[in-house]
Amino acid sequence: MVFKIDLSGRTVIISGGVRGIGLAITESVANAGGDVALLYHSNPKSHEIAENVAKKYGVKAKAYQCDVGDRELVIKTIQQIEKDFEHPIAAMMANAGVSVVKPALELTSEDFHKVFNANVLGAFNCAQAVAQHWVNEKYQGGSIVVTSSMSSELYNQKGLNDPLTQIFYNASKGAATNMVKGLAAEFAQYNIRVNALEPGFTNTEQTSVMDKSIRDYQASSVPLRRFAEPHEQGDAALFLISESASYITGTHLRPDGGFSAY
Ligand SMILES: NC(=O)c1ccc[n+]([C@@H]2O[C@H](COP(=O)([O-])OP(=O)(O)OC[C@H]3O[C@@H](n4cnc5c(N)ncnc54)[C@H](OP(=O)(O)O)[C@@H]3O)[C@@H](O)[C@H]2O)c1
Repeated sequence: MVFKIDLSGRTVIISGGVRGIGLAITESVANAGGDVALLYHSNPKSHEIAENVAKKYGVKAKAYQCDVGDRELVIKTIQQIEKDFEHPIAAMMANAGVSVVKPALELTSEDFHKVFNANVLGAFNCAQAVAQHWVNEKYQGGSIVVTSSMSSELYNQKGLNDPLTQIFYNASKGAATNMVKGLAAEFAQYNIRVNALEPGFTNTEQTSVMDKSIRDYQASSVPLRRFAEPHEQGDAALFLISESASYITGTHLRPDGGFSAY
């Protein structure tokens, strides 16, 4: 039998689903037949992107402006998605994330709040709100994937022994991966699985703003000697929410080209 992931008849929410790794997750889910609800922060083209996904894959796709750091707004948006979509919400991809790249001596409290608000509180708000929704609806088999990073347990370099300087980002990803274990432990009684996707270096707008020399150094330090393409993260996230991962919870999947081997 051909191995196939089929998400038809299900709706998946993807925060930051209109760009980069999030858009790749959106496309992987849509390619598997799932309807997609995309949460964005500020990108005015989000609605157009959702329309394009709907046309390309023949699924329902709709964008919602929703700052994931705003708990009440996340709850309201999930209620709206439930009304707008015919198929039940089956999974949440808490993917939205930001970074501030600055030496530690220059970092401010504002920088801290910006990064932790999106990467930790935002991921928590998405997970909590969708889990509450499933508990209320007595929905069985919900799955949550938090896009953390391989940076959850290592510190990136921009050259040999030359740190990239994004302490709050790395700290937030350490928190995100640890949070996933706790959420998995608490939500297992509701038959909800929670896992982290921990991407390595991936070609997106977040990494394209870095100097080419930094990207070249980083690529050369990966055993596979290149950055990931976004779809290589999207398909890994798709696997985690699929039936094929039904016994996988409270852990992480790290598509990093072998980077953490060293
Ligand atoms: N690229 C990499 O190499 C890499 C490696 C490891 C982990 N990651 C992680 O993967 C995830 C996606 O990264 P990416 O490279 O695809 O980033 P990206 O291209 O910068 O996209 C980030 C997305 O998150 C959304 N977002 C940011 N803050 C938000 C908020 N408060 N509420 C709702 N949406 C928000 C943005 O929406 P707007 O555009 O509307 O503002 C954007 O769509 C992040 O969690 C990132 O940390 C990336």
